[in-house]
Amino acid sequence: MKVLVATEKPFAPVAITGIREVVEHEGGELVLLEKYTDRQQLLDAVAGVDALIVRSDKVDAAVLDAAKQLKIVVRAGAGYDNVDLAAASAHGVVVMNTPGQNSNAVAELVFGMLLMQVRRRFSGKAGTELKGKTIGLYTYGNVADNVARIAQGFGMHVITYLYCCPIPVREGVECVSSPAELFEKSDIVSLHIPLTPDTREFVNRAMLERMKPDAILVNTARKEVVSEADLLAVMQERPAMAYVTDLLPDAHAEFEAKVPDRYFSTPKKMGAQTAEANINAGIAAARQVMAYLKNGDETFRVNR
Ligand code: 3PG
Repeated sequence: MKVLVATEKPFAPVAITGIREVVEHEGGELVLLEKYTDRQQLLDAVAGVDALIVRSDKVDAAVLDAAKQLKIVVRAGAGYDNVDLAAASAHGVVVMNTPGQNSNAVAELVFGMLLMQVRRRFSGKAGTELKGKTIGLYTYGNVADNVARIAQGFGMHVITYLYCCPIPVREGVECVSSPAELFEKSDIVSLHIPLTPDTREFVNRAMLERMKPDAILVNTARKEVVSEADLLAVMQERPAMAYVTDLLPDAHAEFEAKVPDRYFSTPKKMGAQTAEANINAGIAAARQVMAYLKNGDETFRVNR
C-alpha cells in the first residue's frame, strides 16, 4: 500500500516522522513529494499510489486520471474546495478531510493579525483594545469555536450566525438571526465559511455596507468568499475600515497602494502552518488512510 504525501507547502518535519510511523506501522510505504513547483511532478508522483494525502494542493480530474491505482484522497485540513469531488466519485475514489485538527492554529492567527492591526502595527501610535469589542463569527465551526474561546479570554462579546450544519455553540456566544445582523453588530467580523458556489463573493458591497464604519474584516477562510473589487471600493469610502487576511488577494498591490495601514495579508496562507497543526492534521490523515485501506472505514468521507 503506497501512500503519497504531496504538499506544495510542506508539513513540519516532525509531522512527517509521525505520518511515516503510522503508515509503516500499518504495513504501508510512504512516498514524499514536497515543495513541488511543477504540476507535472504531481501527475508523475501519483502513478501507482493507493492513497494521496494533500493540503491545499489541487486534486482535479487530470490528477485522478494519472492515478490509476488511487483509492483515497485525504485533505489534511478542513476545507476541501481544492479537490474535485465529482471527479473523485466518478473515478471511484473516496475523499476525506480531517476536521478540527488544525483549527486552533488558524484561530491563533486571527488574533495575531487582529492585535497587530488594532495596535497600529506596533508603531508606537495609540491603538485600541480588543476587550469589550464585539466579534462576529460567520459562521460557527471548529475554527470559529476556537476563536470564540480565545475572544472570551480577551473579554470580548462573541456573536455568530449559524449558516449550516451547526455544531454546539460555546456558552456565552450569542446567535443572531441573520448574516446582516451579524455584520451590523460586529466591531470585528471574522470569516469562517467554506468556499462553495453559495459563498463565493458572499462578502460583497451589500454586506460590507452593513458593517460599522471602523470595523475590521478578518479572513482566514478563502480568498474567493470576499469580492475584492467591492471591498477596495468600500474601504476607500470608509477611511477607518480595515482588512486583515491570510489569503493573499489577487488585488494585493492595489490594496497596498490604496488603503495602506488598513490592509494586511500574509504572503502565503499560514493559518495552519504550525508544528502542532501539521502533526494533528497529518497524523489524522495517515490514520484515516490506513483505516480505509485496511478496514474500509469511511469516517470523515465527504464525497458520495
Ligand atoms: C484548511 O482548510 O484546513 C486550511 O485552510 C489550511 O490549509 P493548508 O493546509 O493549505 O495550510
